[in-house]
Amino acid sequence: AQKTYTLNNGVRIPAVGFGTFANEGVKGETYKAVIKALEVGYRHLDCAWYYQNEDEVGDALQDFLSKNPSVKREDIFLCTKVWNHLHEPEEVKWSLQNSLAKLRVDYIDLFLVHWPMAAEKDPNSPADNPMPKIGADGKYVIKKALTENPEPTWRAMESLVDAGLARSIGVSNWTIQGLKQLLQFARIKPTVNQVEIHPFLPNTELVDFCFKNQIIPSAYSPLGSQNQVPATGETLRENKALNAVAERSGHSLAQLLLAWGLRRGYVVLPKSSTPSRIESNLQIPDLRDEDFKAIEDVARGRHIRFVNMKDTFGYDVWAEEGNTFLS
Ligand code: A2P
Repeated sequence: AQKTYTLNNGVRIPAVGFGTFANEGVKGETYKAVIKALEVGYRHLDCAWYYQNEDEVGDALQDFLSKNPSVKREDIFLCTKVWNHLHEPEEVKWSLQNSLAKLRVDYIDLFLVHWPMAAEKDPNSPADNPMPKIGADGKYVIKKALTENPEPTWRAMESLVDAGLARSIGVSNWTIQGLKQLLQFARIKPTVNQVEIHPFLPNTELVDFCFKNQIIPSAYSPLGSQNQVPATGETLRENKALNAVAERSGHSLAQLLLAWGLRRGYVVLPKSSTPSRIESNLQIPDLRDEDFKAIEDVARGRHIRFVNMKDTFGYDVWAEEGNTFLS
């Protein structure tokens, strides 16, 4: 049986989830990847309205379930997220209903606020697929009040739990400061905070804060594939110390990085469109103490972020965390 964690509301979440933002917009790629993922045993799919491919996830899920009658909808943990321009209460609800229709299910296991930043909707975009408004500077147009006080957005999230449309709710890309604010007014506590975590961005302080507050961190980009040290250009994949651990352990670097995340106690969300990697990324060994320590040694003191949407948003969500720490 696969490892699971219990969220603060009693719901169980599979520790490994399959990321569905892997296909760079190529039609049909997501469908193929999700079918493969379900076939090899993933039972947790990480989706988002923003990825614009939930219809393919939904088709894959339906096709898989009808071919495998022993697996039920309830056996699959589905997560999706609301994008920045849909933070007004009635839009939060619309977003989930739209995602549910595309995913072809009648409830979601986990619904997340994708970023702690609210933006205007483009009034000229289609009502059935609204887009964020892009300002004269080429960036999102921030909704300042709703960004500074996300309580109305969170109340809408809570009402989706009350209505039975979402089993659990949570956030993504939230800082310690944002979580503190949210915890002050939340009637239903966030269960998860999904953020970028890998050895170049171990995010230890945020991870510890989450655990102390019964929030399970969930790691996106756990393989840190695009991540590199700005000064030297060395990618995480090229890091000698990490590769040495992989070599002596007999596992792939990807498997070790995922094992490191599980040993630190959070969810990992590997994504791939390569069938053999989709499969091997689910075969995660237990880390030996010495290997865990060696990865910790690489991670210590590093804080190099790959995903920072500030150029798109015109707003730096991570400003409070300071600069990139090289080491
Ligand atoms: P591919 O789809 O060609 O397999 P991250 O989420 O950390 O940014 O990583 C995602 C990227 O890592 C994907 O582009 C994927 O490429 C690649 N990847 C996924 N699994 C593995 C693996 N086991 N070994 C090497 N690269 C991988």
